[in-house]
Amino acid sequence: MVQRVGVIGAGLMGAGIAEVAAKAGSDVLVWEAKQEFADAGKARIEKSLAKAVERGKLSEEDRDAAVQRLTFTTNLEDFADREMVMEAIIENEDVKKDVFAKLDAIVEDKKAPLCSNTSSLPIQTIASATQNPERVMGLHFFNPVPVLPLVEVIPALTTDEEIVERAQNYATEKLGKTAIRAKDRSGFIVNFLLVPYMLSAIRMVEQGVATPEDIDNGMKLGAAHPMGPLTLADMVGLDTCAFIADVMYKEYGDPSYACPPLLRRMVTAGHTGRKSGKGFYDYSK
Ligand code: 3HC
Repeated sequence: MVQRVGVIGAGLMGAGIAEVAAKAGSDVLVWEAKQEFADAGKARIEKSLAKAVERGKLSEEDRDAAVQRLTFTTNLEDFADREMVMEAIIENEDVKKDVFAKLDAIVEDKKAPLCSNTSSLPIQTIASATQNPERVMGLHFFNPVPVLPLVEVIPALTTDEEIVERAQNYATEKLGKTAIRAKDRSGFIVNFLLVPYMLSAIRMVEQGVATPEDIDNGMKLGAAHPMGPLTLADMVGLDTCAFIADVMYKEYGDPSYACPPLLRRMVTAGHTGRKSGKGFYDYSK
């Protein structure tokens, strides 16, 4: 079983992945582009671990042990001894291709899965940027990673089945996630369904059909969803929602994936949801 894992990026998703891997007992090396981003990622993980302790999900001893298993670096070369890498950086195809090409040259174990947490970009494009596309695949976690039990496993056309199984076994047996497999098509399974749902809710606000509160209450109280689509979009990040919509619309040409003008304007205005303090709701207080 994989023991030494690498996580690329310590933002919302990367920090969550690093946290669950450290809690599961892995030696976790986290890369960030700058020391200040690494420090912010560490603080994010510690805050979430503190919440887990507060909620009685984790003992203080286990929290301290998890923190000990985390190391941060700004040098990708430090990933040479990793047995598996999970990437969760910005959703930019060129940036991801560059990181995977470098990782492929650095990570010595040629059986080490190099996984992307991309929500919508083609895994094949990322794999094809490397010399060893057979070890590149998608491993897509859900926000908040410490709470949601799902992972999507996405082999590219070129991925070696043994590599896929190695990554899937790590995610299920070590991290305790439930895996579902999807083909390398934009949105995989969950976002293929979830994104047009959130976009429909945004169109309803845009057309003045109902208020965000009423739409969210409708789905919470009438369909037993844990949160409504607009609260969810704010949590995912409206810039991320717009980006995924654009990629999916490009892939399928289906209007249900087209980014609503209101969403685009909100992103331009900097109203990107919870992280900016303003989205469909106000988080500034
Ligand atoms: N560590 C461990 N456990 C934690 C935790 C932490 N940091 N924070 C909370 N928890 C646990 C709580 O103890 C609680 O457990 P319990 O049910 O056993 O008591 C549970 O998680 C719920 O926590 P809270 O009570 O604090 O919060 P809520 O009940 O309000 O739930 C939520 C918050 C988990 C975010 C819930 O509203 C939810 O699941 N929402 C939907 C989220 C969703 O759909 N995410 C997918 C987004 S799409 C995506 O990620 C894909 C991307 O590509 C776009």
